[in-house]
Amino acid sequence: MAESAALLTVDAPINHRVPGVEDAHKANIDKIGAGPIVDPSPIDSMWLVPFALLFSPLLISMGIAAGLCKCLFVIANNIQMRSFLISCSCLCFSGSQPIWSYAFWVQGAVGTLLVLMLRSGRLGLFQFYEEVLGRGNKHWWAMSGIMTHRYLDVWDTLKEFQVRGPFFGGNKAARPGIWPPGDNKPGHGGSFLLWISGDKHTSYRRALHAIVIGKFELIKQRFKMLQNYLHPYLPSTPKDPAEFLALLQNESTMTELVSRTVWFIVFGVQLDEEELGWAAEWGSSAAFFILPQFVQNLLLRSLERSVKKMRRNMVTIMCRRPGVVKLFAEFKGLMNTKGVGGEDYSELPVETFMDEIQFVVNFAGLLGTRQLLESTIYALNRQVNPNFVKDGEIIFPETLTNKEGKSVSYVEAYNEDPIAFLKEVARLDPPVTSANSLTQQSLTIDMPSCFGGKIDIPVNSGNQYLISLAVRDEARFSDAKEFNPYRANIDDVLSWNATFPFPEENAGRKYDPMAVATYDPNGNVKDPLPLTWRQKNNWNRVCPGRNIALQTCVMILGMCPALNNSELTIKWTN
Ligand code: HEM
Repeated sequence: MAESAALLTVDAPINHRVPGVEDAHKANIDKIGAGPIVDPSPIDSMWLVPFALLFSPLLISMGIAAGLCKCLFVIANNIQMRSFLISCSCLCFSGSQPIWSYAFWVQGAVGTLLVLMLRSGRLGLFQFYEEVLGRGNKHWWAMSGIMTHRYLDVWDTLKEFQVRGPFFGGNKAARPGIWPPGDNKPGHGGSFLLWISGDKHTSYRRALHAIVIGKFELIKQRFKMLQNYLHPYLPSTPKDPAEFLALLQNESTMTELVSRTVWFIVFGVQLDEEELGWAAEWGSSAAFFILPQFVQNLLLRSLERSVKKMRRNMVTIMCRRPGVVKLFAEFKGLMNTKGVGGEDYSELPVETFMDEIQFVVNFAGLLGTRQLLESTIYALNRQVNPNFVKDGEIIFPETLTNKEGKSVSYVEAYNEDPIAFLKEVARLDPPVTSANSLTQQSLTIDMPSCFGGKIDIPVNSGNQYLISLAVRDEARFSDAKEFNPYRANIDDVLSWNATFPFPEENAGRKYDPMAVATYDPNGNVKDPLPLTWRQKNNWNRVCPGRNIALQTCVMILGMCPALNNSELTIKWTN
């Protein structure tokens, strides 16, 4: 077996399954997500849970009151802020977040979840903050850090070098049961992309680019093979676009097509039925990831158990294929960057790297691309996707006016420039609504209402930048709520964590994701470390999967001949 693995070419379009090979990896797979809570806060203690359950009628009522009454919501938010910023730590009564503040955090979680439900998701929650805290302030405090919401401020955060920490959704991420741990130093702490920054992040991005994203010819070859691969999984392909879109709108059909495509394009893996079931579980788990540790505790850490299992299943899929294992052995080797001025970041077992990469590919990739596809189908039908956006928050004119001033239907507009159409969908209904960096300068914010006022925010506080509000900023996008794929500044959309195309990717009037190789501003594995100032401040955190995500949507929609009339390089051959 070892010999046949050695003969494998890592660039095979399909990485076939070989029975039994995963057994050698089982011990390390079983360690994924195991171990004590990483960096717990005082309120993450399990012994607090019985108190919360005992007082749950009171806490839930307080939470509901805050969720329904804007005034109470702001006051509770300010108390949480004050408790978070308290720096003296005697006994476990203090520290961040101190035990005395537990009740406020629990009721805050209930109130926030209620607003999330009433406002149809995260965009709605951010719009609620905008209503209660006002656009006048450059930053707001919410949950465990500040928020940045205006287009130019978010643009600056994204263009410039970011320092990161383990923050998700404005709170410290629950690790290691839900999220991989990840820290910036060499060693065993893990190297999860979203949490790391500096040389380690650069090394990781370069290695990912070298083994997957930068393999342009291989990716194109796989996209060309998709037609034959996906065909059996769509029961029929009606010629009428309305009929086709209705067929695709079936949740399990869409999940199957996107999961199969992403796993095939990124890893060359053709999922079997059991594996497809495992991958589809990401869809039902999406809501778990946002919950901080103390909320995971209140649910008796049951979600952790299912997420852990899901992560281990994903790595099992990878370990069943010697071609993928070899790819990650190469990845691990590339993480020793001593030769170019970095450090040796390669100590982790290959299965840990697999977990870290599969996590972003499934989380941002599979869930994000699925939402983009789903919302595009709604947009082609001139409808708001009710799962993510409140009715009325997107205005769909009856017809669209193209660049020549001609009135066109939505299907015509899509075919004229599918990428502009998808970008406009992602502007009004972004699959990733925010991301988190750490502040690098001390600043003072001004919070309204009781317990508010001027507050000093220390360096290295969480900064959740709200992509979804920034791309609706009237100062940048006129008639911001109106769906218009022909807007002149469509490339200003920040939904992939940057503006793009990069100058290195521009090869024509209309952007084509498979015309030119994806550019990574972090450079390549042979470049010296650290990055130069210029390299550092060049959208380093841009989503590396942007072109794969766009082409995936185009390929799935293009199964219908009426949605395959574009000028893109790779499309269905009818
Ligand atoms: C196959 C599809 C995709 C893959 C493989 C992928 C992969 C990734 C990876 C590896 C990162 C981490 C980058 C870093 O931290 O340096 C990332 C970040 C990001 N991706 Fe994607 N992605 C995909 C689809 C999407 C889609 C559809 C969207 C939204 C339209 C999206 C938006 C983002 C954003 C906003 C971030 C930044 C998140 C953060 O820094 O917290 N991605 N993506």
